[in-house]
Amino acid sequence: MPADATAGAGDGARPAAPGGADAAATGAATGVEVIRLEHVTRVFKVGDSEVRALDGVSLSVRAGEYLSLMGPSGSGKSTLLNVLGCLDTPTSGRYVLDGEPVEKLTEDQLADVRQRKIGFIFQAYHLVARMSAARNVELPMIFAGVAPAERRARAREALVAVGLGHRLDHRPDQLSGGERQRVAIARATAMRPRILLADEPTGNLDTRSGDEILALLERLNAEGLTLVVVTHDPRVGGRAQRRLRMRDGRMAEDG
Ligand SMILES: Nc1ncnc2c1ncn2[C@@H]1O[C@H](COP(=O)(O)OP(=O)(O)OP(=O)(O)O)[C@@H](O)[C@H]1O
Ligand SMILES: [Mg+2]
Repeated sequence: MPADATAGAGDGARPAAPGGADAAATGAATGVEVIRLEHVTRVFKVGDSEVRALDGVSLSVRAGEYLSLMGPSGSGKSTLLNVLGCLDTPTSGRYVLDGEPVEKLTEDQLADVRQRKIGFIFQAYHLVARMSAARNVELPMIFAGVAPAERRARAREALVAVGLGHRLDHRPDQLSGGERQRVAIARATAMRPRILLADEPTGNLDTRSGDEILALLERLNAEGLTLVVVTHDPRVGGRAQRRLRMRDGRMAEDG
């Protein structure tokens, strides 16, 4: 792909806040390749059998792009997201993230990437049961060393943005499924990552809440966030600029 001459200006220290008013009106991709997969496979061995969850996936994503990923259950969508989020490593093939081959990163560098660069909304939310919503959202910022006053403010802001300003002190077991999902979204966005990987972010929401969450994610995308959304809902998937489809571990792109 040809490099865009304007690419990279101001890239790297994007301080976009959820709903920030000073968002650069980038909207479109800024051109820098942030994700590159080359013939990636992920093979799981279970007993004597093998599952080729990813079977030669290649992909190039530029900063600021908005992609959806659809496909039947078991086709490899979550596996792909885990690889993209550096939570799992390919069995073979190459993953280049922000120009760096991931296999060359040290454990510390990987941890830093997961903490600062990539936000993850999991299919199962992975909230800490004994902590309040606000504390759950603060948690990654605690690990990242964000000062207490700032992280409390950012947690509140992120929870307000997902419509949970009135549930800050509720624990996950005191929240509905959709509310838990929104806490997970707030947790991912509060860290202000450059790449957000969302596994069924609207899967447990009614149409209206789902639309609000998508609008929030799309606003962050308009501010420059690279967004990948896994969904079973064609209406959700159809909103992305690029639509990817998985089937039996292989990927194809619509259009
Ligand atoms: N840790 C694992 N060990 C063995 N097999 C696995 C593992 N994780 C996933 N698989 C298998 O890999 C395939 C892809 O799984 P994956 O979770 O990526 O599917 P998916 O597309 O996300 O499905 P869904 O829409 O149901 O979430 C499935 O056949 C699954 O059974
Ligand atoms: Mg999945």
